[in-house]
Amino acid sequence: MIGLVKKKFYITTPIYYVNAEPHLGHAYTTIAADAIARWHKLKGEDVFFLTGTDEHGEKIEQAAQAAGKTPKRFCDEIAKNFKGAWKALNISYDNFIRTTDVNHVKAVEKTLKMLHGSGYIYKGKYEGMYCVGCERYRTESELVDGKCPDHLKKPEVVSEESYFFSLSKFHNILYQKIKHGDIEIKPDSRRNEILSFLENNKLEDISISREKVKWGIKIPWDDSHTTYVWVDAFLNYITGIGWPNKRFEEYWPADLHLIGKDILRVHATIWPAQLLALGLKAPKKFFAHGYFTIDGQKMSKTLGNVVDPVKLAKEYSSDAVRYYLLREFPFGEDGNFSEREFILKINGELVADLGNLIYRVLTLAEKFKGNIEGQPELDKHLHLDELEHYMENLELHKAIETIWEFVRATNKYINIKEAWKLKDKELSQVIYNLLEACRIISILVSPFMPDTSEKINKQLGVKAGGLKDCKFGEFTGKIKRGGYLFEKVEV
Ligand code: ME8
Ligand code: MG
Repeated sequence: MIGLVKKKFYITTPIYYVNAEPHLGHAYTTIAADAIARWHKLKGEDVFFLTGTDEHGEKIEQAAQAAGKTPKRFCDEIAKNFKGAWKALNISYDNFIRTTDVNHVKAVEKTLKMLHGSGYIYKGKYEGMYCVGCERYRTESELVDGKCPDHLKKPEVVSEESYFFSLSKFHNILYQKIKHGDIEIKPDSRRNEILSFLENNKLEDISISREKVKWGIKIPWDDSHTTYVWVDAFLNYITGIGWPNKRFEEYWPADLHLIGKDILRVHATIWPAQLLALGLKAPKKFFAHGYFTIDGQKMSKTLGNVVDPVKLAKEYSSDAVRYYLLREFPFGEDGNFSEREFILKINGELVADLGNLIYRVLTLAEKFKGNIEGQPELDKHLHLDELEHYMENLELHKAIETIWEFVRATNKYINIKEAWKLKDKELSQVIYNLLEACRIISILVSPFMPDTSEKINKQLGVKAGGLKDCKFGEFTGKIKRGGYLFEKVEV
């Protein structure tokens, strides 16, 4: 039989540096990617979700040294902690790539040989200022008081022989592709930033090897050099789905590279240029989200205000963390994390709106002994088109708001109908609507709160559904009331 070909959806997060433990910023991108991946699964698509860790380069070399460990052992430990964090937050990745994986290393070597063979890599001499925190050269004009504004450190002065990648050759084609939307960049404000950068600057060839750095992939034809960490890192997006094996074409090009705004420019320039030089397709879309502050301050180890997402999940549940992060901040813009606001959201929207709704409905339904049947009435409050539109546009906060309008309308329906006063057929009608609404709500919240969705399904006695099941039909569940979904937290 010729089966229906499922639409594929390939989504990635950045691979995070293992110089430090996972924090709330990493969790934010990864949770958002997970919710988007789960949404596409609800639509019945063939989804591949890739995340992982970026383990080579000077920054990791230095961090390992400071910890008194070999780089390999140091990387193993922190990569394990990233995996642990994603488990605690219920992240459903399909592959976790580490740039120290043998297959990845081999593929990077192969790439370098290909680019060298086709004349895109040449030897030269580099003089510049290298910021280890950024893992890139910075220009004089980017520095503030001689320091990198992001890492507040003086860059190293580097003067060495180096291999170069002919990035300048790709200036025009990249500009055209971004301008015409072959490579989409979202939000629009970020796309405009990149376009105006390309209008005002000419892309220059970049140095892609370091002589001094030992912890890296050796340049295959010159083992006195290691590969520049970004060149190695970007390739994860194709090695993570099997490249150079042909089967990577099942998922390539990526439908969405989700990243933070800090790394958009390198992503929008070096990465597609590398691909085009290899004769491969550019990714379809980048989405760069905003940056978090903690109680108004930049999250940093020096300030001691780094928020540990695993600790938060243990204290408040992973679903509460996932919900708050995606609900509170307009996706794309900067946000400020405050534990107080977080608790208010839990008490307001999770305990009082959703938790209470499920509890009330299950209480009513469990007491009712007749047949549950009726005509849909609540369906007019369910705006699936709007929800789909927001999800496609990655306006995750608005998508959640749309679901919540339905949650609130369903709660209100109990009051308007004064359900507790009804009997027989009238009561059956109301309970039917409530149970179907709860079943649909459970499906719709599942990308954001997978555990909660499972708990609701269990109480309703229904199987996990997909987007196609989000319409009022016959209620066929076997009800079994459980406890409250969420507990109130003292402020
Ligand atoms: O840049 N707010 O890794 P990285 C929001 N290895 N998101 C934040 C954040 C914050 N305060 N802090 C970090 C690298 N992030 C490279 C990437 S990809 C081929 C190589 C998130 O460990 C956000 O997604 O510095 C940001 O882009 C990423 O972590 C940077 O992680
Ligand atoms: Mg960083």
